[in-house]
Amino acid sequence: MDTLLNNTLNAADSALRTLFAQPRASRPCPTLPGEATQLDDAQKALSGGLMRVNHVGEVCAQALYAAQALSTRDPVLRQQFLDASREEHDHLAWTQERLDELGARPSLLNPLWYAGAFGLGLLAGRLGDRVSLGFVMETERQVESHLASHLERLPSADHASRAIVAQMKDDEARHAADADQAGAQNLPPPVKALMRAAAKLMTTVAQRV
Ligand SMILES: [Fe+2]
Ligand SMILES: [Fe+2]
Repeated sequence: MDTLLNNTLNAADSALRTLFAQPRASRPCPTLPGEATQLDDAQKALSGGLMRVNHVGEVCAQALYAAQALSTRDPVLRQQFLDASREEHDHLAWTQERLDELGARPSLLNPLWYAGAFGLGLLAGRLGDRVSLGFVMETERQVESHLASHLERLPSADHASRAIVAQMKDDEARHAADADQAGAQNLPPPVKALMRAAAKLMTTVAQRV
């Protein structure tokens, strides 16, 4: 009972902190922008929309890892999820800071994104550790290729955003590899396709709202 209460409080704490607190990075983004960034209004608007999408992705990452850490009974795996979640928290802070610099706001639907991702994380967790890891591996791979597409879409002059996205892309690739090594089960292609469709809907909406 104590554990259940403890876990529930931890999950609530993570949700409230992700949604309402100013996130603080444990490390500055290690990828330094090549040159100073100067953007016109149209470039700022484009970067703001894209970085809002990436911020939503990190809100979802907080929810997923919190739910999956809550679901597993394996303490080693729980620690792996929590370690990844700490890096995702840095991503959350970097994207939030960049949104502020661009004069853009985070998605108004963040509580909804968080709740949806938390539910998915719980569902994956319920299906056992190997499936849960498979879900992490596939999610991280999809995020990695999504971030690669943003490196093509972000204004070439936006060195600051590009540096953050490049670093996140490397980190997500490592999270996928870690999940793979920990014994992730490869998900069936229809599930992967469904995840891609859900991500597409989320990114399309979040770029505007
Ligand atoms: Fe991330
Ligand atoms: Fe990640």
